[in-house]
Amino acid sequence: MLPLADSVSSDLAPSRFPNDFRMKVWLMASFLKSIFGSKPAKTVKVEPFGSEFEIPNGQTLLESALQHNVPFPHNCTVGTCGSCKCKLKTGRVKAITDFGYTLSRQELEAGYILACQAVPRDELTVVEVESQAEDTPPPEKFVGRIASRETLTHDIVRVTIELDRPLRYIAGQYANIKSPNVARGRYYSFADAPERNGRSRISFFVRKVPGGAFTEALFTGRLDDLQLEVDAPHGGFYLRMSTVPMVCVAGGSGLAPLMSLLEDARKSRVRRRCILLFGARSQADLYVLEQIKGIANAWQDPFDFIPVLSEEPADSGWKGARGLVTEFIASSLPDANWAEVEGYMCGPPGMIDAGIGVMTGLGTRLGSIHYDKFTDESHSSNSI
Ligand SMILES: Cc1cc2nc3c(=O)[nH]c(=O)nc-3n(C[C@H](O)[C@H](O)[C@H](O)COP(=O)(O)OP(=O)(O)OC[C@H]3O[C@@H](n4cnc5c(N)ncnc54)[C@H](O)[C@@H]3O)c2cc1C
Ligand code: FES
Repeated sequence: MLPLADSVSSDLAPSRFPNDFRMKVWLMASFLKSIFGSKPAKTVKVEPFGSEFEIPNGQTLLESALQHNVPFPHNCTVGTCGSCKCKLKTGRVKAITDFGYTLSRQELEAGYILACQAVPRDELTVVEVESQAEDTPPPEKFVGRIASRETLTHDIVRVTIELDRPLRYIAGQYANIKSPNVARGRYYSFADAPERNGRSRISFFVRKVPGGAFTEALFTGRLDDLQLEVDAPHGGFYLRMSTVPMVCVAGGSGLAPLMSLLEDARKSRVRRRCILLFGARSQADLYVLEQIKGIANAWQDPFDFIPVLSEEPADSGWKGARGLVTEFIASSLPDANWAEVEGYMCGPPGMIDAGIGVMTGLGTRLGSIHYDKFTDESHSSNSI
């Protein structure tokens, strides 16, 4: 298309061919050129790195940024992990897959996008990446084997993996674990507090997902003797330096990164009010209660643990909270100035979306709510 429009327009310039017919042809050629002719280069700027580069048509922001050695946070590259979340400040982008599964409605309204799924449409695109913890170790590949599987509830196990060398991470981060029989890696959040010189044994709380390629193999022992590839650490879920009250909300195996973060904060003698809301179906789904009690007892400031059960039988004698865990956020800090509260949430996407909705409705800034959504392949267009 491009050479055709170029050659026609130069041969048939109106000054040389003034008659009506040629004028029409020239106008048509100019019109075609305006549609198919060479498009102006598209530029991308990434803040706060100050990086600026040209992006070829059709390429995603993330692909191009990585090609230009911009340290853009990322992991899955298929729109499920949320690592590449950034704020679109200038320009419009085309979404290859719907951002809405991984990002909340509030984030979409505030202009957040997923760089791995975003193709720029305008001449200038400016995005801002949330700054990472300063001491985040760079991700590396490790080799691991399952050392133990401990049953925590009927559908959650604590999996401990022995690595070929110590791994350093920040409390709250996660690993990408790949087994030879599943095409792509799965993400699991570290459940233990990190150690200064790294951990050679890393643990995770893994929930069995019916029909799930990785978890079905894990629960039936088919991964026990296999060599696993561990790519870590990843993620921007970590405790921010602050003294404002923190409200933590966990659902199911989403307790893992919060246990890591709270245990680490306890060891560092962090001083701030803390609420831990834990959503589960029934009493049988509650776990690591003794460990939570230990953290609560040693916490420097008031610490409230509020388990909330959604399907506990009415006659079970359970005296605690009943309903959806996010329904108890507001009452967990009755006198709070919610503009000065931080949220830390991990678990199923629906719970995170509801939690963000409640907290922003109470007045908490979107930027003060940190989370990891435990998304899975059910919304992915990629096969397992
Ligand atoms: C940042 C992050 C941290 C996480 N941390 C944890 C954690 O600490 N603990 C934890 O338990 N989980 C965690 N997860 C979730 C975890 O990574 C896996 O997604 C989960 O364990 C399911 O993996 P699976 O292979 O068993 O299931 P998958 O094979 O991914 O399948 C999940 C579901 O989708 C269905 N499905 C699969 N492929 C398709 C398809 N193409 N189309 C439609 N449906 C499909 C399956 O039948 C199944 O019901 C985390 C996820 C993220 C993004
Ligand atoms: S790298 Fe974009 S969502 Fe995972």
